[in-house]
Amino acid sequence: MAYLSTDRVEHHFHDVVIIGSGGAGMRCALQLADAGHRVAVITKVLPTRSHTVAAQGGINASLGNVTSDHWLWHMYDTIKGSDYLGDQDAIEYMCRAAPQLVRELEHQGVAFSRLDDGKIYQRAFGGQSRELGEGGQALRTCAAADRTGHAILHAMYQQNLRAGTHFYEEFFALDLITDKNGCQGVMAWDIAKGEYHLFQAKAVVLATGGAGRIFKVTTNAHICTGDGGALTMAAGLPMEDMEFFQFHPTGVADVGPLITEGVRGEGGYLLNSEGQRFMERYAPTAKDLASRDVVSRAIALEIREGRGCGPNKNYALLKLDHLGEELILNRLPNIHELALRFAGVDCTKEPIPVQPTAHYTMGGIPTNRFGEVIYNGAEGERNCAGLYAIGEAACVSVHGANRLGGNSLLEIIVFGRACGNQVMKRLKQHRYHPALDKDCWQKGVERVESWLGELNKPGGDGCGIADIRLRMQTIMQEHFSVYRTNEIMAEGVQRLEALAAELPDARLSDGNRIFNTELIEAMELENLMGLARVTAAGALARVESRGAHARDDFPDRNDAKWMKHTLASINDGQVKLDYKPVRVRPMTVESFPPKKRVY
Ligand code: FUM
Repeated sequence: MAYLSTDRVEHHFHDVVIIGSGGAGMRCALQLADAGHRVAVITKVLPTRSHTVAAQGGINASLGNVTSDHWLWHMYDTIKGSDYLGDQDAIEYMCRAAPQLVRELEHQGVAFSRLDDGKIYQRAFGGQSRELGEGGQALRTCAAADRTGHAILHAMYQQNLRAGTHFYEEFFALDLITDKNGCQGVMAWDIAKGEYHLFQAKAVVLATGGAGRIFKVTTNAHICTGDGGALTMAAGLPMEDMEFFQFHPTGVADVGPLITEGVRGEGGYLLNSEGQRFMERYAPTAKDLASRDVVSRAIALEIREGRGCGPNKNYALLKLDHLGEELILNRLPNIHELALRFAGVDCTKEPIPVQPTAHYTMGGIPTNRFGEVIYNGAEGERNCAGLYAIGEAACVSVHGANRLGGNSLLEIIVFGRACGNQVMKRLKQHRYHPALDKDCWQKGVERVESWLGELNKPGGDGCGIADIRLRMQTIMQEHFSVYRTNEIMAEGVQRLEALAAELPDARLSDGNRIFNTELIEAMELENLMGLARVTAAGALARVESRGAHARDDFPDRNDAKWMKHTLASINDGQVKLDYKPVRVRPMTVESFPPKKRVY
């Protein structure tokens, strides 16, 4: 192999390396850089193209600017929304921190929309109530029109530039450097130059986002390939609760782009082919603002029972023209544009065709509320020294089996900051970079060379990356969608395992080192495939319905047997499942015990 030599590997030293430049990674970087640490952010895209930019509707905080509100009510809604699989200590931490951190965002330059009195604009979102107070809907989602993620990401990037964070743009993370003392750094590939880089760090933070691209129709960008989760599994650590994948009720039919829940928050509603507001039947109180799993299932049932719209009867209609052009162009300008571009519909005049669409990875790399990566060791729960995960890449777990809209932007800010603070404690104890194993760079190099090198000549007759990726996405879409049964999932697992076995025989058609996007897609597919396998295996094994995991053959939640987190890893090529209890004790308040979820 041409590259098995250290002279071709550039060596960098940083206090902290953060992989991923979305909101979570940037908020964490900012906390550390502002404290004077030498922080590197490695990102496979330009930072402002990270997927946080696509988040639309808003970020939750019980500011009480429009309706009365309290962080405890937010906490209760989040636990109920999670179908009692969320860890209550982490949920309490997040909901308590929200008001302060959203106000801080405002001071950091996030251009929130305003109420007439100058306060931050807050809209209604799904599953948000004042059930513990005077009843009714809580208006808790702080919005910058329908481009809230864009506003947050840009402010975070600017703040990091001010704070002196080092950005390594268009670098792809290949392998975590681990030894008996924990995680020591990461091997990366400079996509533009085709060169290897070894980043040595006292702490590594995975902030790589979700894995929505395991599905065929998704709101997720092409970059959402679960890279951090795959690196974690390659280091022998498990993933948590991957079977819980959120289907957003309103992706543009057939193509996927997100139509924000903010549309329903502003007063839009869903219709079936008979012109009925069908959500009244499924969620008599919250109606179109029930939690996402409930609304997605309702749309899927309407379609299944023949009341879908369009020539193929495969979507619902989202009506918002009654809100008026002024409100739409003011509060939902991005939706107006997306509907025009992707559905050919002017939503000030006509409804938008929508469909449940793969949206959010609720599972992820298991962490505690400080962002430390944890696993079940022989002596109980342990953290992997020096390794952290935050944001959608992580499973902390504040979303459990079903995330509330507006809680993902909140999670990235709250746990990005918390993780930064925790990393600082480690930096106080670890002042110097230790010597690394002399071959530590080799696995990362071999990963690229196995695609490009002489052992695997590009242009061979194995099938192509795009073909395998499409087949994987199709299997996931057909077998692990909104409704699941044993029969459908078992067949899906079988098809997926057979497909995964084909991947090592795939060949590139482009053998160049410089900006070889096919090479990057091949490694992204490796990442996706592992995550699809643990998602599928975890889903098949979970014999109940909870949140986004809805089984026709086991329609009820089973708290006695299944109120537990799944831990899935790949050892010796085989998926292995384990479980751990839900953390039902909050930090300071009483626990919310499970009860029937009604909206
Ligand atoms: O509907 C939305 O705007 C999505 C928000 C979210 O996923 O939190």
